[in-house]
Amino acid sequence: MDSIEYWTQDMSVSWDELCPPLKALEARVSLIVSNYALHWIDDKSQLVAVMHRLLTEQGGLIVARILAMPHLNAFLMDAQMTEYNTRGKTFSTEQHLDIWRTVCEGKGLEVKLLVKSDAKWVYGRQDMIDFCPIIASLSRKVFGISGPKLEFITGVTYDRYIRPDAHRLNPNAWTQFLDNHSIQKVVLNLHELLLICIKP
Ligand SMILES: C[S@@+](CC[C@H](N)C(=O)[O-])C[C@H]1O[C@@H](n2cnc3c(N)ncnc32)[C@H](O)[C@@H]1O
Repeated sequence: MDSIEYWTQDMSVSWDELCPPLKALEARVSLIVSNYALHWIDDKSQLVAVMHRLLTEQGGLIVARILAMPHLNAFLMDAQMTEYNTRGKTFSTEQHLDIWRTVCEGKGLEVKLLVKSDAKWVYGRQDMIDFCPIIASLSRKVFGISGPKLEFITGVTYDRYIRPDAHRLNPNAWTQFLDNHSIQKVVLNLHELLLICIKP
């Protein structure tokens, strides 16, 4: 659309590192919308501080849909948390909500709505094969692992998505899917957060 300018910006950087045209929007942005992106950014406190600085006083809004990654540590043994470097890095949905509320309120935003919702994504076989590297890439980033450790975490993450009621993790879930060509469709059960907050 001619009336829209598209810029690409890594939003994990500090205010000083933002590109100059974005910094020029300080206190001039009326709405920040984000769909399934904020969970990629580790330093939530810095991210929210940057968004807060961009928003207009008295009414600047953030509307974001955020993926809550599965709470793998609720299923992993102590030694596994060490092995896969997950300790302190996975959270229950309630903890995810608390973290976002604390960060937003800590930066002076008023949280108008912060709720979790359950989403079901139906993927055809090839779509799932295309999507799995994104799960792996997010896990690599969050846990700083690669190789067989990353394969394990990708497998159990996929397993949580397809078997949300299971009490034990199946690390082979992903390879079993790949081997079983009769599986043409999967249903991913995701938890997502909806965040709406305002700069008062
Ligand atoms: C699941 S996609 C969602 C894309 C799009 N918002 C949509 O709804 O289809 C996640 C997006 O987060 C973006 N992302 C990841 N890390 C980011 C960062 N540090 N700064 C800005 N965007 C980031 C990726 O480029 C990717 O486009």
